[in-house]
Amino acid sequence: MSRSQLSPALLATELALPLPVSRDGGEVSTSEGCSPTARVADVRAFRKIFKAAVTPYQALPVQGPLVASDSPSINGDQITHHLTPALPVLEPEGSSKKDLDERILKVIYDYKERLVERTKHHLGYPYNLDFDFSALEGLQRFSINNLGDPFIESNYGVHSREFEIGVLQWFARLWEIDQDEYWGYITNCGTEGNLHGILVGRENLPDGILYASHETHYSVFKAARMYRMDSVKLDTLATGEMDYDHFRAKLAANSARPAIVNVNCGTTVKGAVDDLDRVLDILRETGYSEDRFYIHVDGALFGMMMPFIKKAPRVSFRKPIGSVSVSGHKFIGAPVPCGVVITRQKYVAALSNDVEYLNSRDATIMGSRNGHAPIYMWFTLTRKGYEGMRKDVERCLRNALVLKSMLEQAGVKVMLNELSSTVVFERPREEAFVRKWQLACEGDVAHVVVMPNVHMAILEEFVADLITSRTRHFFTAAMKVASDARAAHSDDSDEE
Ligand SMILES: Cc1ncc(COP(=O)(O)O)c(C=O)c1O
Repeated sequence: MSRSQLSPALLATELALPLPVSRDGGEVSTSEGCSPTARVADVRAFRKIFKAAVTPYQALPVQGPLVASDSPSINGDQITHHLTPALPVLEPEGSSKKDLDERILKVIYDYKERLVERTKHHLGYPYNLDFDFSALEGLQRFSINNLGDPFIESNYGVHSREFEIGVLQWFARLWEIDQDEYWGYITNCGTEGNLHGILVGRENLPDGILYASHETHYSVFKAARMYRMDSVKLDTLATGEMDYDHFRAKLAANSARPAIVNVNCGTTVKGAVDDLDRVLDILRETGYSEDRFYIHVDGALFGMMMPFIKKAPRVSFRKPIGSVSVSGHKFIGAPVPCGVVITRQKYVAALSNDVEYLNSRDATIMGSRNGHAPIYMWFTLTRKGYEGMRKDVERCLRNALVLKSMLEQAGVKVMLNELSSTVVFERPREEAFVRKWQLACEGDVAHVVVMPNVHMAILEEFVADLITSRTRHFFTAAMKVASDARAAHSDDSDEE
């Protein structure tokens, strides 16, 4: 089958693992229309190996907080600020050019060593650290800048717009929008995609109120502050997705004003997915016609993964959504932060202006734009293709399930949302452990985001290390109780 014949629906992976449990406790039905040929080849082998080890897919989180919130050793509201030391700029004066070059090389060498070590022990942030761009060596010598609109060349010729548009076309197909109906660009990161998506919403519905759950990434509320928009923070369910009843009530209360809704496709901490179809139903039921709402889908991480999962709700412009954004350095992986935002051409007109100095159009958040990023993305997407991406997604979900089971076996409380590779567990008590594995923590939980570079060997090392850390912590805590008791009753003796 040629690539052009493959639709994202056909490519979606069918997780041949224990069936997920839906939010209401029933089994999630399998979706129709996915060719059996799209099934993963190694599913049977995997089943055999892991049948015993993997417990049924637990869609719902464990009940209540993972760790008692009055736990004395964890204060979720307290952020430890580890201040960054400076690496002073070397002064050339007084040293020969040779000496200076040697000093610089030594600094860079040491830095590289640190990067190698830090890359080996990274599990907390959703970055795919596994890539090889050595074929692109040499491009660093060029100041590649895609300033202005990707579709209209500026007079600056050192650009990579053709790569950028190739990548945008790839995403347009993934998210099901016709080539002549979309507009988009390669952003600096997922945050810029959110800032852009919400700006497009605001420019089209100037009086709109922004709705987003309180587990939404902070960039969304930052957008509301930047654009001085009224916003409503919605409650969330235990899974981390928005509380739909709260959403309905707030929409009804503000029915005189349009709605700009941020829908999460993978929240930052719990990897929760807001149910887009349910959001659309609620908008309709509360009387919001399509010209009175705008939906931005924040797909920073899962926007790239969900289209490849057969059972996942579809991220698709066939539904009345306004924009989708994703981070490029997350699931795809890149040596620089980057991302993609796609919207409808008809919407972006509201914020486009011709700029004579550029000889292009201004419709982006940034002016100068990283021209290397599109090449990294183009390179990876071309090498892997839709099928390679699907395999990466499948492996991540499988490894996330394995990690969840390993932690359960080790007595660690854990949750894993449906269709997510973000494994949430009790926040480790030892700060040194958190720093070693670069875990992202919030309140009483931490998470590991299983990315394509996270293989079984890393998970084994991590879990072994976690068990050692927990044992050390609990042993020390227990012995402290004993030594406090001895001190309090110093007149007692063991011999008595
Ligand atoms: C849900 C969500 N949205 C947006 C972002 C921001 O992405 P970036 O770090 O690429 O700016 C993140 C980052 O983790 C995220 O988790």
